[in-house]
Amino acid sequence: MSDTPTAADAGTFDLDGETTVNRMGFGAMRLCGEDIVGAPDDEETAREVARAAVDHGVDFVDTADSYGPGTSERLLREAGVVDDAVVATKAGLLREAGGDWLPHGDPDYIRNQVLVSKDRLGVDTIDLYQFHRPDPDTPFADSVAAFAELKDEGHVDHVGLSNVSVEQLDEAREQVEIATVQNQYNVANREDEAVLQACEDAGIGFVPWFPLAAGDLGAVGDELDAVADAHDATPRQVALAWLLGHSDVTLPIPGTSSVDHLRENVAAAGLSLSDAEIDRLTAAGE
Ligand SMILES: NC(=O)c1ccc[n+]([C@@H]2O[C@H](COP(=O)([O-])OP(=O)(O)OC[C@H]3O[C@@H](n4cnc5c(N)ncnc54)[C@H](OP(=O)(O)O)[C@@H]3O)[C@@H](O)[C@H]2O)c1
Repeated sequence: MSDTPTAADAGTFDLDGETTVNRMGFGAMRLCGEDIVGAPDDEETAREVARAAVDHGVDFVDTADSYGPGTSERLLREAGVVDDAVVATKAGLLREAGGDWLPHGDPDYIRNQVLVSKDRLGVDTIDLYQFHRPDPDTPFADSVAAFAELKDEGHVDHVGLSNVSVEQLDEAREQVEIATVQNQYNVANREDEAVLQACEDAGIGFVPWFPLAAGDLGAVGDELDAVADAHDATPRQVALAWLLGHSDVTLPIPGTSSVDHLRENVAAAGLSLSDAEIDRLTAAGE
């Protein structure tokens, strides 16, 4: 690895022909308290982590209204991150104190939440507004229509989807331009390979959430260890480098509440795996 890699070493992804982001991003969900409900014990450290991401070249930060709820967006604003990064937030999930995540794709709710998120982030326009998860009780097209309207009305610059199938992506693209899709995906969990492929075909950014499987990449653990040893890197860094090397449209957003872990994760942007190593890891995760 180069001496001081930054997120820029991951290369860039072009969201719309005008806006490019460094492909190594940051997931701000883990800035919240336990079960992603409420504030963390140490808010100052949470702000330091967010600030450290930007200081290490990250200019693509993922959050959601439901992280806290509200806490993650608030901390990003307080950390001064919002002006220095494309902030991708989401709507479509309710929370309750026990930690459950409840799909709520009601169009009126989405329209309400965009105003809440704009105020909390302190922006006139949300850079990237993602539909967090299809709601079985609301027609998918109705929810997507709300996002399309918000883009038309100038509340949001780009629309993204999350936790969708290829069919849902195709359906949504008939209503509005989709900039990104965010699904669970990592070297050990490739259930959504077809969604990634669809994004590649359409030039849409694919944001793999749970990129480190919170450290539990057991199925490919031995292979990760071997490649990590060869590069004097950590297995987590190899898992992130694999995501970057496996496809040109991936935008990993590793989440952490620790400045040290943030540095380690961003440094993976400077780790270049050989085609043989990528193939070996790809095969191990299948
Ligand atoms: N769209 C969705 O439905 C959805 C769902 C879940 C998450 N997300 C987004 O995706 C982002 C990433 O997912 P994620 O945070 O769930 O999972 P992740 O990035 O795979 O893993 C995060 C976990 O791994 C630990 N970790 C991170 N870097 C580490 C390191 N270098 N060494 C040791 N431990 C490390 C973190 O603990 P520490 O805090 O101790 O570092 C945290 O518990 C989230 O932050 C969120 O923005 C989206």
